[in-house]
Amino acid sequence: MAIKTIKNAKNLYGKKVLLRTDLNVPIKKGKIQDNYKIEQQLATIKFLLDKHCRVVLITHLGRPVPGKYDEKYSVKPIAKALGKLIGKNIIVVEEINEFEAGKKISKAKYGDIIMLENVRFEVGEEKNNRSLAKNLAKLGEVYVNDAFAVSHRAHASVSAIKDYLPSYAGLLLEKEIVNLDKALHPQKPLITVIGGSKISTKITLARNLEKKSAHLLVGGALANNFLLACGYEVGKSMVDKESIAFAKKFKSKKIVLPVDVVVSNRASGGEVKVKRVNSVSKGDYIFDIGPETIRLYSHFIKKAATIIWNGPMGKFEEAHFKYGTMSIARVVASRSKGRAFGVVGGGETVEALQKTNMFEYVDWVSTGGGAMLAYLGKEEMPGLDGII
Ligand code: 3PG
Repeated sequence: MAIKTIKNAKNLYGKKVLLRTDLNVPIKKGKIQDNYKIEQQLATIKFLLDKHCRVVLITHLGRPVPGKYDEKYSVKPIAKALGKLIGKNIIVVEEINEFEAGKKISKAKYGDIIMLENVRFEVGEEKNNRSLAKNLAKLGEVYVNDAFAVSHRAHASVSAIKDYLPSYAGLLLEKEIVNLDKALHPQKPLITVIGGSKISTKITLARNLEKKSAHLLVGGALANNFLLACGYEVGKSMVDKESIAFAKKFKSKKIVLPVDVVVSNRASGGEVKVKRVNSVSKGDYIFDIGPETIRLYSHFIKKAATIIWNGPMGKFEEAHFKYGTMSIARVVASRSKGRAFGVVGGGETVEALQKTNMFEYVDWVSTGGGAMLAYLGKEEMPGLDGII
């Protein structure tokens, strides 16, 4: 797929570049909990600095109420952390308009970095408002989208803005596309592992990848819905109407379900047991896949030439129920980089890789959760239109 990247942009030298990043990182009490997304943006920023560009960073952070400044969602801690990593003082501009931001940006020297305050404070951002896009565009001469993780959203700083400036993909966006395309056009056999709680964001992915996969291994609360659809008792386990309906309709021989599960007799702090799926009782809560299922899933993963994994296998944040997810993380990692091409994405799945220290053993860890699902599900990607 031809990608219009900054590597083939002519006349970038010295330009004012609006760089849309996804620096939507977890922050607690002003402290950044995970730097992964920030580190992933460094390559593009350095590339632009080498070209003596004045870099104007745009990002969203969380989901604040539009039209209202809220300190909790300010990008200032991110500017500080990024500044440290890059060895520069990054100025945050609070008012995103031609006068305030425009003045500061025009005073910027070559190689300076300026960061706009959280773009979701702007009323028009999530409405893909054209006048906001136009105003943002006035702040630069070139637009670069490096925010793969938000490219499934039709938002002004991701989508409409491209109508007003020459637009390119950043280096991270390019890597995401190249790696996810390898998964979309896989070396066979492809094994897809999906978990997590609900089907709502995974329907297109499941449909699209079912065609290409040799097997679709299902875990997490998502598996409860499939077990229920097959007539098994799932007790008091988490299920939801949409996922049950999907599981009932989505008949495929390629779907592999747990054969045993880890259950508790209470929502928290109860007695924990491993049970065959046909022995689950009315009072049980299923919280993880069992050891036989780990063995079965590992057997398939070990034969894969391509692996896609999204969604944990259970309630892995609790010690008793972490083994399914952690084991799958290890098997995916041990098969990746060499014998199979392994792609992992989604906030909790990436967290599991970090907890098992398996991060660097996987070929590609996507920065996108919803965006990865949308891309692999061949959904609309407004942030990519005109760039790829
Ligand atoms: C993410 O973290 O997945 C992206 O930043 C997108 O965030 P959003 O779901 O709030 O649009």
